[in-house]
Amino acid sequence: MYRTHTCGELRLEHVDTAVCLSGWIQKIRNLGAMTFIDLRDRYGITQLVVAETAPEDIRKAAAELGREFVIQVHGKVVERASKNNKIPTGEIEIIIERLQVLSRSEVPPFTIEDHTDGGDEIRMRYRYLDLRRQAVRKNLELRHRMAHLVRNYLDSFRFMEVETPVLIKSTPEGARDFVVPSRMNQGQFYALPQSPQTFKQLLMVAGFDRYYQIVKCFRDEDLRADRQPEFTQIDCEMSFVEREDVLGIFEGLIRHLFKEIRGIELPELPRMSWQDAMEYYGCDKPDLRFDMKFVNLTAAAQTKEFAVFNSAEYIGAICVPGCASYTRKQLDELTEFVKRPQIGAKGLVYVRYNEDGTLKSSVDKFYTEEDLKAWADTCQARPGDLLLILCGAKKTTLPQLCELRLEMGNRLGLRDKDVFKPLWVVDFPLLEWDEETQRFYAMHHPFTSPNPEDVDKMESDPGAVRANAYDMVINGVEVGGGSIRIHETGLQQRMFDCLGFTKEQAEAQFGFLLNAFKYGAPPHGGIAFGFDRLVSMFAGLDSIRDTIAFPKNNSGRDVMLDSPSEISDEQMKELAIQVTSH
Ligand code: AMO
Repeated sequence: MYRTHTCGELRLEHVDTAVCLSGWIQKIRNLGAMTFIDLRDRYGITQLVVAETAPEDIRKAAAELGREFVIQVHGKVVERASKNNKIPTGEIEIIIERLQVLSRSEVPPFTIEDHTDGGDEIRMRYRYLDLRRQAVRKNLELRHRMAHLVRNYLDSFRFMEVETPVLIKSTPEGARDFVVPSRMNQGQFYALPQSPQTFKQLLMVAGFDRYYQIVKCFRDEDLRADRQPEFTQIDCEMSFVEREDVLGIFEGLIRHLFKEIRGIELPELPRMSWQDAMEYYGCDKPDLRFDMKFVNLTAAAQTKEFAVFNSAEYIGAICVPGCASYTRKQLDELTEFVKRPQIGAKGLVYVRYNEDGTLKSSVDKFYTEEDLKAWADTCQARPGDLLLILCGAKKTTLPQLCELRLEMGNRLGLRDKDVFKPLWVVDFPLLEWDEETQRFYAMHHPFTSPNPEDVDKMESDPGAVRANAYDMVINGVEVGGGSIRIHETGLQQRMFDCLGFTKEQAEAQFGFLLNAFKYGAPPHGGIAFGFDRLVSMFAGLDSIRDTIAFPKNNSGRDVMLDSPSEISDEQMKELAIQVTSH
């Protein structure tokens, strides 16, 4: 037997018990006569003591121990003279009576404690050591617990977990595919799924009624803090449902998670149309932890000889509470912020609504104080507030104002990680025009059903058709998205027409789905949550990487495996891939 207890288990009530523990040495403190050892396992840390009176062989063995050795000790639990109230086992320690080294360790490349001295690169290279740190492991424990709660919740609503294949077929829609060459079918490739979308729809045709899967998805896209090339979805689909049914079940799932994990009773989730989200927050995933809704000043500000405003399609403002006292330097910083190439605004106009009721702006040359007061009133500003104004083409100015709003939220500390403001964004456009390729793309995917009220416009005004689609957004992060699907072949064909697919192209890409729909497709719809994003939200993390046991870095590399890597010439030949000299 390797242990009677774990390293997180022993308390005062165990005093005088003979115990056996196994674990890793986190730290050794040699105080001359006495040696203290912190023994760690997944469950906690227990202090071991080699007493002054310990037999010679134990003292000798203890002198040869090092950090991260795996040892087994037998001993007696005693009450500590100086207690440590920072850890649950801090009231006791174990007097070692027998000690055995189970496995030695080289000196680890960084200190395995919560506050480590290891940089990012080295921690990722030795991820198995990084994962020994409680701070990292607790995120994986949370992930496990959330997966468990999700499974139980969905099971209670009769969702059935079904696995779908990982080697599938490449499709030109959506993000870029990762592909896998086929040896048995030379010159041909599988693709890894960007999501199990078509399979879950086929499962509905098969009559499974309610499906879910906690599933790996793969997308070859540019990486960011909330994107990994392989990530996990909670993927769900339901038959004989309308939008309200889907929103109800999955609002319930999110409320359940918040209640169980964070002890928070969420109010009913508000809904916002995509149109309003763009108009008032400049993006389709508004962060509602703070206000500063955009105010359209176009009409109110195009009244004088200020050419920059007069030539702008759109003039929008945010009212920043209590910031009229911002210094020149602070305002210059904000101007620099919006002019950064990533944001790309040409300039920033401000209006200070001073505490004494006077108004001062960067465009005083053109506007009177009454003009400025009218803007302030339109923005419902109060003395002490600061108006920040951007102008230009509407399509580019709204996202710029969105960045500025988020920046002000950060500066004012309004984006508290312990405050949660979820909402549904609904009524997305069905199609999105792409200037470069001069065609429409499906905003969600080609199987999303149009809003029934807009179906007539599919041919005459495709850009104006709303989708029967929805996203769940929490604190400015899109945590999930889905839609009611098209289940009639005729409507699906019209959708493909909108996307400019010929009959042959549609047949070649999605023939299997169109065929399936010929044999009785139930009305159906679903949603997929980004599981990594949900976990990182609940854990209060800035990046989804910390919720993944073995993540990729920002260049899509696994630095531990050193992957991707070249393959041998033999493998290349076998796959009939041209061998180039490397
Ligand atoms: P969608 O493409 O919106 O929908 O994806 C669903 C959710 O997955 C998460 N997500 C990601 N998380 C981490 N890294 C990524 N690269 C990444 N890409 C997406 C997001 C997103 O909301 N089949 C549809 C769902 C459906 O219609 O039912 C789909 O995949 O949180």
